[in-house]
Amino acid sequence: MLATPADKLRCRAPGGRGSLVALAAVLALIASAPRAGAEPAQPLRLCADPTNLPFSSDRPDMPGLYNEIGDALGKALNRPVTYNWYKSYFGKRTVRVTLLGKQCDALIGLPSTSDFMGPAVIFSKPIMKQGYALVTSKDRHISNLSDLKQLRVAVQYESTPQNLLAQHDGITTITVLSPDEGMKALDANKADVAFIWGPVAGWLNKTAYNDKYEIISIDGDGLLWPVAIGFAKGSNALRDQVDAVLPELGARITELSAKYGLPNDRPIKLTALTQAKVHLASADAPMKPATSAEMSPSHAAAVPASNQEAVNAGHEVFNGTCAHCHGPDAIQSERHIDLRRLHIRYGDDMRDVFWKTVHEGRPAKGMPAWKGIFDDKQLNDVYAYLLTVQTPGSGN
Ligand code: HEC
Repeated sequence: MLATPADKLRCRAPGGRGSLVALAAVLALIASAPRAGAEPAQPLRLCADPTNLPFSSDRPDMPGLYNEIGDALGKALNRPVTYNWYKSYFGKRTVRVTLLGKQCDALIGLPSTSDFMGPAVIFSKPIMKQGYALVTSKDRHISNLSDLKQLRVAVQYESTPQNLLAQHDGITTITVLSPDEGMKALDANKADVAFIWGPVAGWLNKTAYNDKYEIISIDGDGLLWPVAIGFAKGSNALRDQVDAVLPELGARITELSAKYGLPNDRPIKLTALTQAKVHLASADAPMKPATSAEMSPSHAAAVPASNQEAVNAGHEVFNGTCAHCHGPDAIQSERHIDLRRLHIRYGDDMRDVFWKTVHEGRPAKGMPAWKGIFDDKQLNDVYAYLLTVQTPGSGN
């Protein structure tokens, strides 16, 4: 499966089990003393991981980006801040236990994609963007995909970069399990470039590698996403208050991002990468002359222009929701969830299998049911889109 934005939350050094200790008094903000005569302000309760630098930590000398943003937010709202420490091994689980379990009022740093946890979580306006970045020595210039040819590129296991680069000949990928390992591979000259999660790469570059490397954020589906402050459904009033003060925190957030080494350059698009993705539907058999199979109704070329709107709408739903497991643009190297193989796998039954699977899901296998979340028109659009990316051929 692809790493979903939620997985990025668990990117942290392994450590002992955390206890749910609220260090309320310790971190209450001095600057937020209530005005004379007013009721004492209710503390703003934040949940944070005590050992997840650059994002959060319980070290007073190095509280982390999100906690420092939290402190600034508390000041702006004139409320003291308290922390509920929770070790986030896994993003969505953490959100469920902490935020939805009412242990805190807000969680800073959630990927604010509408599908993150359905309607259970609502978001502030984005506070920054985060995503994957290319890390390389400062004298190497990379501005498009062909610059990666002949190079050894470290990619994180089951990440979008791994999925994308797997589709290209001439790029050697080296699989690593964490950004830390990617940086080490680079430093040991086992890789020329690392295409890894940017915030941690930036932090390590700053703290462990003396700013030796260039870090370039990369834009694109599944590569860069907005990050916001999350609240439990129903906390609209607090969310609106936070949105109202966010503009005045902008400069501080930029300053803090730099302090913690996050890549702050303008993200670039690897243009060739995007082009390559468009052609991938037929890239599986680039050398073959057109066969009748390639001209079959399941092939891209056969989609009538009038259908283009449905395809575009379906593409959007797909990349917004399905892509987290099935890969952006349906590019997925794990065969059993590679939806480009639906036609090869099911032939004429493809449509029936699609409908049954998306309506009912296969909960035991990790495929959610989408009935009630998307209407049939939307699911039909997704189907229209999937038809355009089917791998040519039929039968097994
Ligand atoms: C949380 C991860 C996840 C998401 C999100 C997801 N799927 Fe799936 N999907 C799976 C898994 C895992 C399977 C394979 C189940 C199995 O092994 O039988 C699957 C299987 C399928 C299949 C059947 C594939 C086959 O070859 O039998 C279809 C069709 C499908 N998904 C469509 C979708 C669509 C459309 C969306 C978006 C609306 C979507 N999925 C979103 C995890 C997901």
